[in-house]
Amino acid sequence: MGIRVNFIDPLGRVVGAEGEPGDSLLRVGQAAGLPLEGTCEGQMACSTCHVIVAPDWFDRLGEASEEEEDMLDFAAGARRTSRLSCQIALTEAMDGLTVSVPGESVDARRM
Ligand code: FES
Repeated sequence: MGIRVNFIDPLGRVVGAEGEPGDSLLRVGQAAGLPLEGTCEGQMACSTCHVIVAPDWFDRLGEASEEEEDMLDFAAGARRTSRLSCQIALTEAMDGLTVSVPGESVDARRM
């Protein structure tokens, strides 16, 4: 059985998606049609894959690396529970994960 993820799009609509263990959250979101650019394809150089994790899920995802934290400083509308979706690999324990996709993103490479 797949791992279900609920994306909340910029208009507040819930978009259900499903992935397999090891899939990147970015790819699952893109496959479901969410506006996640992910222009650097997971190289932690753009921050256009930024998502805001539901607070009750945030602590369950493990800590972001220092590089990810640095890149999140560039993300548009970053919050305390922001993460880069390219850095989250799905596990069985993430079944039901809920994240919001912000309406705007900043490509740190174009700054
Ligand atoms: Fe560029 Fe995640 S895809 S930082």
